Amino acid sequence: MSRPVHDRLLAELSVSGPGIRGIIMRRALYGGVPMALFALWIGGVKASPTVDETLPSNYVPSGKLMYQQHCATCHGPDAKGTGPMASFLKTRPSGLTLLTKRHGGKFPKEYVQSVLEFGPGPSSHGTSDMPAWGPVFRYFDKQNERAVRQRITNLCNYLTSLQEP
Ligand code: HEC
Repeated sequence: MSRPVHDRLLAELSVSGPGIRGIIMRRALYGGVPMALFALWIGGVKASPTVDETLPSNYVPSGKLMYQQHCATCHGPDAKGTGPMASFLKTRPSGLTLLTKRHGGKFPKEYVQSVLEFGPGPSSHGTSDMPAWGPVFRYFDKQNERAVRQRITNLCNYLTSLQEP
């Protein structure tokens, strides 16, 4: 997936918010076989809710739910980097269970926060297969910065709970 594709995806998400599934379905029309497979996979996951315009502005889902909705497709349900989307990406998604170990024994919340807001890599505009999620986390309500912070905190707490020694 190229960066421009992600930017467009995020733009669509933050402006009109038709829901991730809708976007992915539409993208499958011109995204070729990998996206079509991905759309099928997403379509099959009936139990998992999508981003929804009708959610209240202060809605703060659990970290686990957000992880499953926004991250597991690439990073894997167990956060070991082997989600169903992983093999379609040029850059393999990182395993996320060794972050604490790699950062000297302390969960790197600020680092994860910046990855979420600006995308990974040395430059926020560098090429990367990981989208920046700032707009997604703001999508529910552009004014409610506190709820956004809480969402990121929940996500970080969930990731912290997955860390291996
Ligand atoms: C479209 C696939 C995709 C999705 C969805 C995704 N990521 Fe990533 N992520 C990647 C890839 C690929 C990398 C490695 C990128 C690189 O090195 O340029 C990465 C890297 C990261 C890193 C840096 C890891 C490290 O070892 O330094 C963190 C943290 C991260 N992702 C967290 C998340 C979280 C949390 C979510 C959900 C909100 C998420 N990602 C959703 C593909 C994805």
